[in-house]
Amino acid sequence: MQKRPKISLIGAGNIGSTLGHLIILEQLSNVVLFDKIDGLAEGKALDIAQSSSVEGLCIDVSGSNTYKDLENSDVIIITAGSPRKPNMSRDDLTEINAIVMKSLGKEIATHCPDAFIIVVTNPLDAMVYELQRSANIPSHKVIGMAGILDSSRFCYFLAKELNVSIKDVKSLVLGGHGDSMVPLVSHTSINGVPLQHFINTGELSQQRLDEIMQRTRDGGVEIVNLLKTGSAFYAPAAAALAMARAYLKDEKRLLPCCAFLNGEYGVHNLYMGVPTVIGKNGVERIVELPLSKEEKLSFKRSTNYVQNLVKTLETYG
Ligand code: APR
Repeated sequence: MQKRPKISLIGAGNIGSTLGHLIILEQLSNVVLFDKIDGLAEGKALDIAQSSSVEGLCIDVSGSNTYKDLENSDVIIITAGSPRKPNMSRDDLTEINAIVMKSLGKEIATHCPDAFIIVVTNPLDAMVYELQRSANIPSHKVIGMAGILDSSRFCYFLAKELNVSIKDVKSLVLGGHGDSMVPLVSHTSINGVPLQHFINTGELSQQRLDEIMQRTRDGGVEIVNLLKTGSAFYAPAAAALAMARAYLKDEKRLLPCCAFLNGEYGVHNLYMGVPTVIGKNGVERIVELPLSKEEKLSFKRSTNYVQNLVKTLETYG
C-alpha cells in the first residue's frame, strides 16, 4: 500500500468519525480512530474501511483504544470529551473536558510528541491551552479549531442574505470561540467588494448585519437546540480537516485558528482566534491585522473573557 501520512483521531464520536470518513474520501492519510469506549472506534473504523471498496479507495483505517497505536502520527485531532446539551454553554464543559485534556496531554507527550495537534474539544480556547500545557509540546505545534467554523457560519449567513454565491464570500471571525467572538466586518468582502459597499447602498441594513453577527455567535447553540442530543459535527469536521490538510501539504494557508499569542495583538500567554499561516512547520506565522476601534474593543473584551476562563483551569488541579 502507498506510504501515506497518519492522522489519529482521538474521540470517535460525531466529529471524529465524520473526520475519518472525509479523510479517506480525499485519501489524505491513513487513519486511526481512537476512543475510550470499548469497540466504538473499531466498529466505526471497520464501517468506514468497508466503504473503501465502493469508493475505490486504497487507505488504511483502524480503530483502537490503546495509546500505543497513536505512535508515529503526523497529525492528532482531538474531539474527545463531552458535547453540550440544550441549556448548556460551552463553558459548562470546562471541568469535565479539562480533565480529559490533562490526561491526553500526558499520553501524547509519551507516544507522539512530534505530531501536529489540532484541538476541537470545547470550550475550545481553554482546552487547547490545557492540552498544550499538559503535553508540553511547542505551542506552534498545538492549535485549536474554531475560527474557520465561525467564519464559515458568518459567510454562509451573508451569502444567503445577499443572494450571492457562498464561494465569493470571504471573512474572518477572530477572538474566543463563544459569545465574545469577533466577526470582522472590516475584513469581509464579496469577491473583493467590501461588505461596507452593500451597507452603503442599503442592500444590507445595519440591523440585518447585527442580526447575522448575533446568529453567527449563536451558530453552535442553534444546532444544539435543533438536535437536542449532541452538537454540530459536519462543519466542525470540515474545518479541522482544512487545518490538517494545510499542515500535511505545506499549503501555507492563511486560516483563522486558535493560536498561542506571545505579544501579538497585545496579548500574552493565551490561546485566541487569530489569522495564522499553516504549513509544514505548524503555525508558521500569526498575521496582525489593523482593527477598527470597535473591533479592537470587542477583541479586548473577548481576551478578558478567555483569560478568566483559563484562570478557572487552576481550580481543577
Ligand atoms: N479518551 C478518548 N475518547 C474519549 C475520552 C477520552 N478520555 N473522553 C471522551 N471520549 C470520547 C467519547 O467516548 C465520545 O465517543 O469522545 C467522543 C466525543 O464524541 P461525541 O460525544 O459525539 O462529541 P462530538 O460531537 O464529536 O464533539 C466532541 O468537540 O465541538 C466539540 O463541543 C464539542 O467538546 C465536544 C467535542
